[in-house]
Amino acid sequence: MNQDIIISTEDRVTTLTISRTDKKNAITQSMYAAMADAIIDYGSDENARAFVITGDGDMFTAGNDLQDFSTGGGSKDEIPPVSRFLYAVRDCPKTVLAAVNGPAIGVGLTMLLHCDLVYAGRSATFNAPFVKLGLVPEAASSLLLPAAVGMAVANDILLAGRTLDAEEALRFGLIARIYPDAELQQAVHQIALHIAGSAPNALKQSKLLIRNQREKIADQMHAEAKLFVAQLNSPDFAESVAAMMEKRTPVYG
Ligand code: COA
Repeated sequence: MNQDIIISTEDRVTTLTISRTDKKNAITQSMYAAMADAIIDYGSDENARAFVITGDGDMFTAGNDLQDFSTGGGSKDEIPPVSRFLYAVRDCPKTVLAAVNGPAIGVGLTMLLHCDLVYAGRSATFNAPFVKLGLVPEAASSLLLPAAVGMAVANDILLAGRTLDAEEALRFGLIARIYPDAELQQAVHQIALHIAGSAPNALKQSKLLIRNQREKIADQMHAEAKLFVAQLNSPDFAESVAAMMEKRTPVYG
């Protein structure tokens, strides 16, 4: 188990806390691996009934670790841990909740599109800076975000880099409810307990009916992944990251 991923279970509710606060909960390949394992375990554990993803401190996650992006994360696995995690959330047969306790950046936003119940604290924000980094959307967000919030707002987020606050995210349908920051975790735990006490097969079958675009989503993720890897090796990405590190405006060829 990775020390930056905390898994706790109480009353059949499993909570996964992304806990790397000194790096704004940015997610490394080894953290993705632990997150994938936890979700897969949850999906196959008869006793586990609800799964909550949240962040430690005042941040949900700053997204993929930028260092890992640049170095490839050191993973020699055939399927990189980030993909294994995204497939695991996408394919989880049981209810997954998210308690967004602060900024959700990059994969912090895109993973939410695969969660079934998404709640946020008042100070949560939502941003997908893929183009800013010289990259393209991932996790089928190029399909699921327009479906969730409409094409105009999705383009504002994915192409123009707009950051939504919690009120906007609620209004656009990205999240279901907002709670005061101090009440978020307890409120989501209560909802998770309610899910844990609901008929398990009815929940599973309902989820299958709601998430009925599985093939289309898988195809979109595949298409995105090919372009994402190509962009990671592009001058646009190198310049974007260099400019971010040097706190200057990027200059593209
Ligand atoms: N990957 C790796 N490290 C990250 C990180 C990331 N995605 N986001 C933040 N960090 C690190 C910073 O490098 C810094 O480390 P240091 O203290 O060793 O220098 C630490 O977390 C604190 O970040 P800092 O930028 O000083 O905090 P802030 O409050 O001013 O800003 C953010 C917070 C999240 C807005 C800002 O860090 C940011 O924009 N991060 C990049 C987000 C991103 O582009 N993610 C990729 C999405 S695809």
